[in-house]
Amino acid sequence: MRDKYYHIIPGGPLQGRVKLSGAKNAATKEIVASLLTTEECFLENVPHILDISLTLEMCQELGSQFVFEKHVLKIRTPKIQKPQVSKSYSGRNRIPILMVGPLLHRYGEAIVPVVGGDKIGRRPIDFHLSALEKMGAEINQKDNLYIIKAKRLHGAEIFLPYPSVGATENILLNGVLAEGRTIIRNAAIEPEIIDLVMVLQKMGAIIELKEDRTYIIDGVKNLRGFRHRVLPDRIEAGSFAAAAIASGGDIFIEGAEQINMVTFINKIRLVGGEIEVREGGIRFFNKKGSLRATNIETNTHPGFMTDWQPPFVVLLTQAHGESIIHETVFENRFGFTSELIKMGANIKLSTRCLGSLPCRFENKGFSHSCIVFGKTKLHGAKIKVPDIRAGFSYLIAASIAEGASEVFGVDHIERGYENIANKLRALGVKIKIKRNHASRDI
Ligand code: UD1
Repeated sequence: MRDKYYHIIPGGPLQGRVKLSGAKNAATKEIVASLLTTEECFLENVPHILDISLTLEMCQELGSQFVFEKHVLKIRTPKIQKPQVSKSYSGRNRIPILMVGPLLHRYGEAIVPVVGGDKIGRRPIDFHLSALEKMGAEINQKDNLYIIKAKRLHGAEIFLPYPSVGATENILLNGVLAEGRTIIRNAAIEPEIIDLVMVLQKMGAIIELKEDRTYIIDGVKNLRGFRHRVLPDRIEAGSFAAAAIASGGDIFIEGAEQINMVTFINKIRLVGGEIEVREGGIRFFNKKGSLRATNIETNTHPGFMTDWQPPFVVLLTQAHGESIIHETVFENRFGFTSELIKMGANIKLSTRCLGSLPCRFENKGFSHSCIVFGKTKLHGAKIKVPDIRAGFSYLIAASIAEGASEVFGVDHIERGYENIANKLRALGVKIKIKRNHASRDI
């Protein structure tokens, strides 16, 4: 373990003010949307994080020109130079498969690397591929690449077996320039997707969202440039909020939007945390110090978001009693708890559905439920981050533990959170970036 790591010394309850960055899960897709037009596109509030750099590199490889300064991105793709996203991007993020629509529309062919599974589940893309086929694409797989061809995509009626975020976005990106009408039933309606829909609408797309998770897209011939401000990151908001409540602190989260956090806020109240919605953000605080256990089931929007689950588990280690969490979105999202146990948490995993929501993982042997017995004192430890969202939850655990912690594998965190060490410092956490044991402040 001699790579880059964070050395964290807790500084008491987290207090102060933090400004949210733009949502990674919207910005990356909106950059992909810019590939649908030859005109210039402007995106504001784009976070400076690794996932954005990767997405921009991929676009550049395809023919985009861009300037990215002070959170404003100006991007234009006058011509698609080649239809292939390099294999080197395989497994780096979930973006290459979303580039298929723009490439097919503008080049007639798309070659993208096969996306692998990861620590939180298999993450297949069968819904994406079957939708593309329904819309007239011909798909072949060779040497870990998908080779996809279509002279012109046409509309189709697509029922998603599960409201997948990525598949919904992919069909939207395919449908806007397809010939005729595309209908997506049982689609996902996450705020980041609605933000993408707003971008596409600004570009000239015709997209209607019905009340029953159905999108109706009437294909148009051409799309134009756009100017858009990326919505604030509600996952980052949930993580800072969990940190405030778990530590007995008080944080004003600038940019947090109540409309996108309704389910989360309910759970904060149930555990005994307090909130105050103010102009420009939400204050999360815990003056009483004592918290009570609660149960959670993750779900697609408007349910409790799966990406809020890891920070909430850390929060629940500080609540008195037995909390039960049923993860229904990803089959393998509790691996991160082993490091929390190392820090003193009392957590048991179960393959049973410990909840009432319908669940695809019933009787499949996945440890997708978890019981947290609290309250437990956490102590500092050497821990390794398995994935991006677990990463932030470890920063919270280290910030409320007794004694110093060393958090390794921080690239996962930096892929998705901008300036995270400085933000935590402003809230009172003493955090240093270290590499090969030669430390430097950031
Ligand atoms: C996105 C988010 C991620 C979030 C997740 C759920 C991005 C970059 N990532 O991931 O942060 O946790 O939504 O809100 O925006 N599935 C299939 N076949 C498919 C597609 C999905 O079986 O073709 C399954 C997945 O394995 C998973 C479930 O559907 O069990 C949800 O996945 P999905 O909503 O597609 O997640 P992502 O778009 O990958």
